Amino acid sequence: MKKFYITTPIYYVNDVPHIGHAYTTIAADILARYNRLKGKSVFFLTGTDEHGQKVDKAAHERGRTPQEHADIMVENFRSLWQRLNISNDAFIRTTDAEHKKTVQEVLRRLLEKGEIVKRAYSGWYCTPDERFWTEKEITGGKCPECRRPVERIQEENYFFLMSKYQDRLIRYIEDNPSYILPGTRRNEVLGFLKNNDLGDLCISRPKSRLSWGVPLPFDEDFVAYVWFDALLNYYSATRYLAPPGGGEGGFAWWPAEHHLVGKDILTTHAVYWSTMLMALEWDLPGNIFAHGWWTVSGEKMSKSLGNVVDPAAMADKYGVDAFRYFLFREVPFGLDGDFSEEALAKRINTDLANDLGNLLSRTLTMIEKYRNGTIPAPVQARDREGLEGRIRAWFSGESDTGMTPAIDGYLGRVQFHHALTHLWKVMAEINEYIAATVPWKEKDEDTLSNILYTLAESLRLLSLYLYPFMPDTADNIWAQLGLHQKISSLKLQEAGMWGWLKPGTKIQKGSALFPRIDLKKNFRKQAPANEGKPPPPRKSGRKATEKDNLITINDFAKAELKIGRVLQAERVEGSDKLIRLRVDTGGDRQIVAGIGRSYTPEELNGKKIVVVTNLKPVKLMGVESQGMLLAAVDSSGELSVLIPDRDIKEGAGIK
Ligand code: ME8
Repeated sequence: MKKFYITTPIYYVNDVPHIGHAYTTIAADILARYNRLKGKSVFFLTGTDEHGQKVDKAAHERGRTPQEHADIMVENFRSLWQRLNISNDAFIRTTDAEHKKTVQEVLRRLLEKGEIVKRAYSGWYCTPDERFWTEKEITGGKCPECRRPVERIQEENYFFLMSKYQDRLIRYIEDNPSYILPGTRRNEVLGFLKNNDLGDLCISRPKSRLSWGVPLPFDEDFVAYVWFDALLNYYSATRYLAPPGGGEGGFAWWPAEHHLVGKDILTTHAVYWSTMLMALEWDLPGNIFAHGWWTVSGEKMSKSLGNVVDPAAMADKYGVDAFRYFLFREVPFGLDGDFSEEALAKRINTDLANDLGNLLSRTLTMIEKYRNGTIPAPVQARDREGLEGRIRAWFSGESDTGMTPAIDGYLGRVQFHHALTHLWKVMAEINEYIAATVPWKEKDEDTLSNILYTLAESLRLLSLYLYPFMPDTADNIWAQLGLHQKISSLKLQEAGMWGWLKPGTKIQKGSALFPRIDLKKNFRKQAPANEGKPPPPRKSGRKATEKDNLITINDFAKAELKIGRVLQAERVEGSDKLIRLRVDTGGDRQIVAGIGRSYTPEELNGKKIVVVTNLKPVKLMGVESQGMLLAAVDSSGELSVLIPDRDIKEGAGIK
């Protein structure tokens, strides 16, 4: 299919944008950019949800009318999208006159078709969530979603006859395995639909209670329910905001290929929106993908905790591309993830500065040194299958195993982390290729030209595929390779071919792509891990060789290692490094470990760990330690406690 229509949720203007909003919008941006690169006609839509109780309340609290409030708040979203390099084609506001007109047309059409009816209704209403709940759904007088008290409300309202679509929706989801992704969420929706009677959906609010909404065209006493109005944005935008290409190319923009949403709003999309479309006899979207939620250092983000992550601040501090990369590399899209600046900084140092940045700078340095800064011509005769051939094969557009089919597959299934893992695997192969060919020792000039061309060309191609994730970085790599086209102006079909890079191009080596971050300075100081451990063997004057370090199996067998379960953990008073642990290793024992700057006691409770159980007891700050736990330590001093791969009983021996 030639067209690609992708949407984000439209965000409430009751508050400023946070990392959750940035997450979905960057995800949509990645897919939009990739599909443009593929040569598709792309319509990427985002926007704001401006009606309803939440916005009305936020406006009144600030002494503004809801419209004034929306006009002010919408700018926060627009400017954040610019800051994060979001390439949306349109921005919809539900207060747009054209959108409201579509909502009214749809309401009238559904009323005429008998899909909407007026009924007296009495139910439990959650004001903050603007939702009615059934008797069965509420627990202890509280809203099942937000746990706040619900009120009994009796009134006349308009209902969309959603219940009659229950069976059809189940069948549709079963027949279309990728309609709802990931699979776990699809199963949840199916489970819900199969085990509950779907009610009808109340789609109006009496003006006496809430006037901030789209007026019902057939009853002046009511406005539309905010979700009914909001979901229709995906359709109304195709009528007045979509690029003209849609019409001219002979295709309609509707239906969307993807709706990206957070897991909390999957039901409204998978159930309300799907059945609304069925009633309208319009096509259903290709896919609804529900992503997970970010927590911050293990806690839910909330204003009261003061831990809400500001995406613009992260971009200012670490760079837009590093932030974009981190969000999609750290956690598979679809699962919940934990955000920490330290984890972000580590990713920058390892994946971006080391793997990617070093590869570029090594390659350019060699081209400067050995070829006077000019891309050399590859020499076919010198091409050694298994070396250059193997690198080329990663990118070859023709074979099924080439880069485009691989990335197509991952991004088609919205698996960003798989796409990135694949790109980093190729990067590792290129680094291995350098190690195998040892260009700085190569005496044959043709062979050296071949190696340098292969490196430059694979970096150019790699950055083409990195572009959707890190657009500025990809353009920067191209500029350093001496290429001045903006990647956004190119198509993968041509620019993705091996050999596109012209020999004779003058490179322009610039500064490092990603300067390393000093973890020690920027984050906490790290404790050495070996408190309580025997001192390292004394150096014997001459340099230790590998042979000197060898031990026999009998030496190793002297250490008794067992699996232990942490029963209790607490800090040793007066020390920020030491944690006292009660561990069950088949019997109860006390261990004091120097891990307090990498772990909190709470994190350790219940964990299965590896313990050396036959060490002579020692006293640390007056507390006896009967053994030692095993932890890995990296060059910054950060510790990672070793834990068994599968659940295994405490006391199990380690061989
Ligand atoms: O729900 N991590 O808007 P909204 C990840 N207007 N995503 C998060 C998150 C977190 N910690 N917190 C929130 C609305 N989100 C409606 C949508 S669409 C027709 C109408 C996500 O501003 C959340 O999952 O409250 C949702 O997808 C998005 O932010 C917008 O939330």
